[in-house]
Amino acid sequence: MRDLRIAPSILAADFARLGEEVADVAPAVPTIHVDVMDGHYVPNISLGHPVVKSLRAATDRVLDCHLMITDPATYAPQLVALGAESVTFHPEVDDDPLALIHRLHDEGAEVGVAIKPAHPLSLVSELLDHVDLLLVMTVEPGFGGQSFRHDAVPKVAEAARWRREHDAGFRIQVDGGIALDTIEEAAAAGADTFVAGSSVFGAQDRVAMVHDLLARARSATGGDREAVG
Ligand code: DX5
Ligand code: ZN
Repeated sequence: MRDLRIAPSILAADFARLGEEVADVAPAVPTIHVDVMDGHYVPNISLGHPVVKSLRAATDRVLDCHLMITDPATYAPQLVALGAESVTFHPEVDDDPLALIHRLHDEGAEVGVAIKPAHPLSLVSELLDHVDLLLVMTVEPGFGGQSFRHDAVPKVAEAARWRREHDAGFRIQVDGGIALDTIEEAAAAGADTFVAGSSVFGAQDRVAMVHDLLARARSATGGDREAVG
């Protein structure tokens, strides 16, 4: 069976109770998605080093930092040093993204690259052999609670096709607007990792919501069949 994962995004959590919010979803998930925004790459500021440090002490789940910042080469290694096991950055802002990928690997982290809705897969195709994860944004980065962009789905299918043809092993993560009525479309196209903010943290029973989302994703992939992109 394909290994499908939900990664709750704490951007939709109550930051005044962050430890409890993470503890509430942790039993159902391997990974917590941490959106770091600098007010430059995106028109919003979210959180940074002190929060990652506190989260590291509060949970044993993998912290997957999604860096929506203009200077990942400076800050990504610092976040890894604070305990982020996985970092994803938007490579067009960096002069030498392959060097940054190697550096973060050397420091023991898993590494992802992200593409915005306007960016074609070709922007990152030279990096795909070197990463653990490709993040296909299904909203414009910067804010939670936006509507899923169906026009990003063909790019997910293209990435799944690329992965198959190159026998590559990176995960395909989708991020933005993932909910019960959109996850099947992304899963059917080949996504295996689903960031979900509002849909999970907005639910009364977050664990039940994670299970419902996974069930929908599984049904869309035919259980154990690899989706054909
Ligand atoms: C948006 C962030 C997302 C966001 C998703 O820039 O990268 O991770 O938290 O939130 P929802 O699931 O509410 O669209
Ligand atoms: Zn994100």
